[in-house]
Amino acid sequence: MSNHSTFRRNFLKGITLGSAALVANSALGQSNPKNNDPEFKYPKHFYDAVPALGNHQAGIITPEPKEATFITFKLLVKSKEELKALFQSISSRIQYLTASQSIAVDEDTQLPPKESGLLGGDLLPDQLTITLSVGASLFDDRFGLSEQKPKHLMEMTSFPNDLLDPNWCGGDISLQLCANSKEIIIYALRDIMKHHYQQMSPIWKIDGFLPARDIESGSTAINLFGFKDGTGNAPNTDAKLMNEMVWVTEQNKEPEWCLGGSYQALRLIRFNLEFWDRTPLEDQENDFGRMKRSGAPIGMTHEMNDPQFDKDPHGDRVLFDSHMRRAEPRVPHRYSAPLRRRSYSYSLGLTNSGLLDMGLIFVSYQNDLKKGFINTQRRLNGEPLERYIKPFGGGYFFALPGMKTTDNYLGQALFNA
Ligand code: HEM
Repeated sequence: MSNHSTFRRNFLKGITLGSAALVANSALGQSNPKNNDPEFKYPKHFYDAVPALGNHQAGIITPEPKEATFITFKLLVKSKEELKALFQSISSRIQYLTASQSIAVDEDTQLPPKESGLLGGDLLPDQLTITLSVGASLFDDRFGLSEQKPKHLMEMTSFPNDLLDPNWCGGDISLQLCANSKEIIIYALRDIMKHHYQQMSPIWKIDGFLPARDIESGSTAINLFGFKDGTGNAPNTDAKLMNEMVWVTEQNKEPEWCLGGSYQALRLIRFNLEFWDRTPLEDQENDFGRMKRSGAPIGMTHEMNDPQFDKDPHGDRVLFDSHMRRAEPRVPHRYSAPLRRRSYSYSLGLTNSGLLDMGLIFVSYQNDLKKGFINTQRRLNGEPLERYIKPFGGGYFFALPGMKTTDNYLGQALFNA
């Protein structure tokens, strides 16, 4: 069966289940001793596919798998036509890589192999999503697109607690790759880079992870401070809320081509874990406003309990300065921070001073960068948690609207505008 028809079959299965659904594919079926189902050669989760086609790109509100990579690129293409060809080509690689495929055998041993070989003969998506976003610099004078710039898109500026390292900031485009296994992310990234090394050159890259136990059991992922992170996130099943907070709609008065896209805020935040691990539990909990073990608001029992700020008007229970209360005061209404978070922990080596280089890749998506990320970060400026954190990189990007059919490509409406 050709790659194309395999993809089409997966896609058709995918759309019947909706864009956030996973598609189990048994195309490559052979029995596997570790699997009771003789139809599957590998454990079933490897076959899970998140459809790449739809009104919106996958990887924004679709469920977070365990692994992620964030990478940005500088563009080497010089004209609008070349840029369009690049987006067409990346889109077709995304369609190919995010579905199950049987990898063709290389006929000519005198040529480099078509694929890296990292996954043997079977490309299994394991919930892979690849999300393409563009930075403000795409709209400078290189490509004649300046009139089409999303109105809030700009280079990320420094906040008071930041110590931004230019080597970890910005980019003409950003790629976010998420999946349940590292090897599929590496495979997909190498594939995309191999196909486009003449058109784009990488600037910075960071890998993230979420605890396997939390993802597999469906509980809120715990971050490196030991707190459940994501509890208060707006439910991705609430389409109305997603339109109000995440997706650009007519209400946002953006250029027409932006409809269905979303602003991506990326922040690389180093933690001072040596200091944190010597901090009393009570201070840790006050800094977040939540109990460490249960994730419940302080004074409550369950993670999902409402913090009832109206019954705590002087901030005696949940401090006004706590991260939760500053970020989401719930005044004048719930989701006063109109953004949806999709953060991952990172763990690099050691810093130059011999400290653990670990922290958070904070990621949020919102349809209004100012009301979403920027205003929320302004409320957080000066929070007590700042003693333990140091943002050092990231950037603002605009996640392109989705491609609806196999013939579409990401950014199509921008080039047709
Ligand atoms: C060091 C970096 C950060 C850490 C460790 C962190 C961690 C947390 C934790 C543990 C919670 C409580 C549980 C939850 O509702 O998810 C939370 C809530 C929240 N955080 Fe952060 N966060 C960080 C940075 C940020 C940034 C940069 C923003 C946005 C500018 C932000 C926005 C929010 C929002 C909106 C909530 C929801 C509060 C609620 O709904 O009650 N966080 N964060």
